[in-house]
Amino acid sequence: MARRLDEVSRTFSEYLLVPRLTGKNHLPKNVSLKTPVAKFGRGQSSPFSLNIPFVSASMQSVSGTEMAIGLSRLGGLAFVYCSQAVELQASMVQKVKTHKAGFVPSDSNIRPDTTLAEAIALRKSTGHSTMPVTHDGSRNGLLLGILTDKDYWEYEDDLRRPVADFMTPKENVVFGAVGLTLHEANRLLRKHKKECLPILEEDGRLQSLVFKKDYIDHMNNPDELLDGQKRLAVGAGVNTHDYRERVPALLDAGADVLCFDSSDGFTEFQKEAALWIRKRYDHSVVLGGGNVVDGDAFRYLVEEAQLDFVKVGIGGGSICITREQKGIGRGQASALMAVVAERDKYYAETGTYIPVCSDGGLANDTQIIIALAMGADFVMMGRYFAMTNESPTPRIAISGRMYKPYWGEGSNRARNWQRYHAEEESEAANKFEEGVDAYVPVLGPLRDVMAVTVAKLKSTMCNMGSLTIREFTENAVLTRISEQSFVEGGTSNVFTFDKNLPREA
Ligand code: IMP
Repeated sequence: MARRLDEVSRTFSEYLLVPRLTGKNHLPKNVSLKTPVAKFGRGQSSPFSLNIPFVSASMQSVSGTEMAIGLSRLGGLAFVYCSQAVELQASMVQKVKTHKAGFVPSDSNIRPDTTLAEAIALRKSTGHSTMPVTHDGSRNGLLLGILTDKDYWEYEDDLRRPVADFMTPKENVVFGAVGLTLHEANRLLRKHKKECLPILEEDGRLQSLVFKKDYIDHMNNPDELLDGQKRLAVGAGVNTHDYRERVPALLDAGADVLCFDSSDGFTEFQKEAALWIRKRYDHSVVLGGGNVVDGDAFRYLVEEAQLDFVKVGIGGGSICITREQKGIGRGQASALMAVVAERDKYYAETGTYIPVCSDGGLANDTQIIIALAMGADFVMMGRYFAMTNESPTPRIAISGRMYKPYWGEGSNRARNWQRYHAEEESEAANKFEEGVDAYVPVLGPLRDVMAVTVAKLKSTMCNMGSLTIREFTENAVLTRISEQSFVEGGTSNVFTFDKNLPREA
């Protein structure tokens, strides 16, 4: 006879937090949201952590290059989607890694005999107004001068003349030598009131450029998530079919964290793929997997597949119809609490802490807060990020409001990219979908949307007398609420107007 779990499957909105003593030091400005991603031993720190506990889902309609750059600047991480060709995913990862590193290779270079018209055309196509002039127009040629948009008047000057007539010649250019630190380069920019500092090899060849705007940008993003080479961090989704080609390509491109993207991770497929990765790269790769909804599956992925972190959630995603199509899943709060309990047991037994990620079904900031209080080290979201300007889909006006398309990875729309289907899915995949193709309202820039979530989270953490995510979980006291207290929690007997949805411009 089938085994039956006694408890009811619960969701986040069925719980509230009971405040604990707030001390005078429990102020949002003192709160740290740093949280581990890679497993670590007792008394050690995690080899890879986030500065805010948010990651974006490995989905076509969520995690492209722009999302990855935007989110890691704020301290989180995007998992660039794997439902695309290996080369395309690797090139997205590479774009994030080369986005800004302090010393950037110059990608708009001209020769001294380039005409002003050609230089202006290049500026318009790249958006870069500073162009090094090198002897052969290459990025590592001998530097002869610098042309910026302050050196000419587009509608007054003769556009047929060579840029040599307009550029600041090398003898008047302030430059640095290879070997200079970023700190020293920024000091030179400040001292000489410059926007851009070329870095030259001993023989006068151009090596890279340092920009004042990058320094300002860095100062505006104190939580930026950087790798050891000061490049933005980025994650990537992987699957259990083509990992032998995909994983090496992603790691070569610089991916910092990999994660299996699967609706049900309690499989031998995931174990086999994970062990292949471990054999080839050992524990130098931060590798997560899932999704699971109970302690047995958690144990399997940790002990048998040697994963660094485990993702929890089946069927709770906003675009997900797995539960109604296949009858598998579990209420997200129950699933998370079961896995966290097993994780804590595993930690007590072995001294190894395995971070847990709650994935999907977070419909508002309160649910994010409850998930973290219940013991998730970080949360993965799709819909939340799909609603921001940084998601890779176009804005569409519908009845005067702005929307963006958002579709599940198990929908036919997402599956269309595949040249072949996985063995374990091939039969089913053609016959039914596990995700829908939908629209979500546009909320604006990721930075603004995230600022509100972070402010609420920090404020609640202070209510719970906590300054770290760990303390938050340890201090949390949760209470189940009745349907009536749920109603009581909303506004009552007053009229409100929805100010959130922006009107069409
Ligand atoms: P959301 O944040 O509620 O929108 O859920 C996003 C999560 O839903 C993802 O991280 C995946 O775990 C899951 N998901 C993505 N696509 C599908 C699908 O087509 N069917 C079921 N679950 C999906």
